[in-house]
Amino acid sequence: MSALLKSLRREIEATGPVSVADYMTQCLCHPKYGYYMTRDPFGVKGDFTTAPEISQCFGELLGLWAAIVWQQMGSPKDMHLVELGPGRGTLMKDALRAVRAVPDFIDSIHIHLVEISPTLKEKQKDSLQDYKVNWHESVMTIPDGPAIFLANEFFDALPVRQFEKGEKGWAERFVDLDPDGEGLRFVLKTDEAATMLMPSTLKDQETQGSLFETSLVAQAIALGLAERIKDQGGSILAIDYGYEQSAFGESLQALKDHKFTDVLATPGEADVTAHVNFETLARSFKEGGAHVFGPMGQGEFLERLGITARMQALINGAQDDAQRNDLIAAHKRLCSPDEMGSLFKVICATHPAQPHPPAFEEV
Ligand SMILES: C[S@@+](CC[C@H](N)C(=O)[O-])C[C@H]1O[C@@H](n2cnc3c(N)ncnc32)[C@H](O)[C@@H]1O
Repeated sequence: MSALLKSLRREIEATGPVSVADYMTQCLCHPKYGYYMTRDPFGVKGDFTTAPEISQCFGELLGLWAAIVWQQMGSPKDMHLVELGPGRGTLMKDALRAVRAVPDFIDSIHIHLVEISPTLKEKQKDSLQDYKVNWHESVMTIPDGPAIFLANEFFDALPVRQFEKGEKGWAERFVDLDPDGEGLRFVLKTDEAATMLMPSTLKDQETQGSLFETSLVAQAIALGLAERIKDQGGSILAIDYGYEQSAFGESLQALKDHKFTDVLATPGEADVTAHVNFETLARSFKEGGAHVFGPMGQGEFLERLGITARMQALINGAQDDAQRNDLIAAHKRLCSPDEMGSLFKVICATHPAQPHPPAFEEV
């Protein structure tokens, strides 16, 4: 039994079932047993791989994207470049290397990383040892001023609540003790909030057993960031896997050793995430006063930024066939619609006076 499972069972015995959102938060961020708090989950030996870990091109192109947006903003002398959920720091490292050639950019930015994991913070210190970096546990402490926010696979780690239409009407899903063993199970608790939180496009379409997920935390962060860039200038670029329009269905999932596993089986030892609802994310950005571009598929976004030319340059300089094949495979993995090219989507929010950001010109 995992240490977090023991702790959760004790908590549920004492105070009753916990919501799916609370369960997810504890799985990922419990100060002692949370998944991200105790390990580096990336790579072949870990549980999953992310785009910046697949190819240096990803971070390089995002860095150049940020530098062009900075120029579109009038090249402010003091700007915050902020990454939310920076993992091993690979994206930021590749981005900063790529923008060295952009006159004055590096000298004009203050680098901020928003990270809750002490273990990953140590990795980020290693990756970014050549730069002055400021760490934060929340976006709330980023100093005032114009800012560009980058977030790759950050919003999918934010907790979702789940609501299900049962026999007695709408109810919220909670996690309770499993009476048939030492594990956990889902239960329903009637909750009128469901109908208020349901996306309006789903109203009147529900049937018995319909389920929807909503992340109030993601919406609150998106709203806060949009209000900030509307008042102080800047942009937000978020990349994640998810869906463009609200729909009934469950996307909560757990990943361990690169395989899906039961969400309730090993709390704290598997990565628990949910697909991002880009419709509600876009709505929150708009409510905050930002202009929204996208979402578009990650493959199209990277192609528009020139990933094929950059990959070709790397392939031309490859030392052997094995390296060339790895580069070709990485390009396919990031861009092909069968792999990360369409499931992963890119959305951008900007200050309303800013021109269309790179890659979103005709969208
Ligand atoms: C799936 S990883 C993505 C890492 C990185 N962006 C990449 O693409 O490789 C999620 C990251 O978000 C961080 N994280 C998760 N929840 C967070 C929260 N509530 N606040 C700040 N960081 C969080 C994790 O520690 C980790 O660095």
